Amino acid sequence: MFNKLFGRKTYKKNTANEQKGLVKDECIPSHIAIIMDGNGRWAKKRAMPRIKGHHEGMNTVKKVTRYASKIGVQVLTLYAFSTENWKRPKTEVEFLMSLPGQFLQSFLPELMELNIRVQMIGDKAVLPAHTQKALDAAMEATKDNTGLILNFAMNYGSRDEIVRAMKTMMAEVQAGTLTMEEITEERITDYLMTAHLPEPDLLIRTSGEVRLSNFMLWQLAYTEFWFTETLWPDFDEACLQEAVDVYQSRNRRYGGLKGEGTE
Ligand code: FPP
Repeated sequence: MFNKLFGRKTYKKNTANEQKGLVKDECIPSHIAIIMDGNGRWAKKRAMPRIKGHHEGMNTVKKVTRYASKIGVQVLTLYAFSTENWKRPKTEVEFLMSLPGQFLQSFLPELMELNIRVQMIGDKAVLPAHTQKALDAAMEATKDNTGLILNFAMNYGSRDEIVRAMKTMMAEVQAGTLTMEEITEERITDYLMTAHLPEPDLLIRTSGEVRLSNFMLWQLAYTEFWFTETLWPDFDEACLQEAVDVYQSRNRRYGGLKGEGTE
């Protein structure tokens, strides 16, 4: 795995899944990242307002979180709101900003029961106060949980993240605390918002769109991609299992030859 090759953080694998009839233990992706797309189209097909699609999307988040936790995934990163999503109508943005609160209110007991820890990446400072409060409360309440990390990308943009990292590094170079020679791939990784996490093994995007939309551009360099036509509110445990099955059937080479650099 990437972690072994480059000496990154490794996470212990869950080993009891096959007995439970779940996906093969061997290579459960440590980190799954998902671009949750298609809420609006799901609602439109039902002649409902777009926010109904987002609400249903939140229920899918619960389903997928439970299943990821059950099969032993270590980190689940969900693209919940991008730095570009502010361009949407005000009412839609307001609804999206209310979702962390709704999610916490209805799901915190289960997060605790499942030993799940909530974290986030993105610029929290400019989110509405109630959204920040909900995210802070979720992160605080679950901070000692040791199971799945449920990582929300909220007001996240990969280019913004890279610009921030570069600015911090340049300031350190100017101050003389960082030298040009010390700037390596590993060092840049350490300045990103995901510094404490392993890189995603599997990226999923729903709804038939096949692009990255400014999501984890640096971190996805060696990630396996899986795209599905399924709209996010229709995505379920079987879809996630299918994605993991496909992931397990692939041979990750990290630029090497067949059979090298794989587990
Ligand atoms: C993209 O679909 C989806 C979003 C911008 C929001 C995703 C948010 C959730 C699924 C809920 C998150 C839950 C929590 C707890 C934060 P779209 O609206 O662009 O769909 P469309 O392309 O069909 O219009």
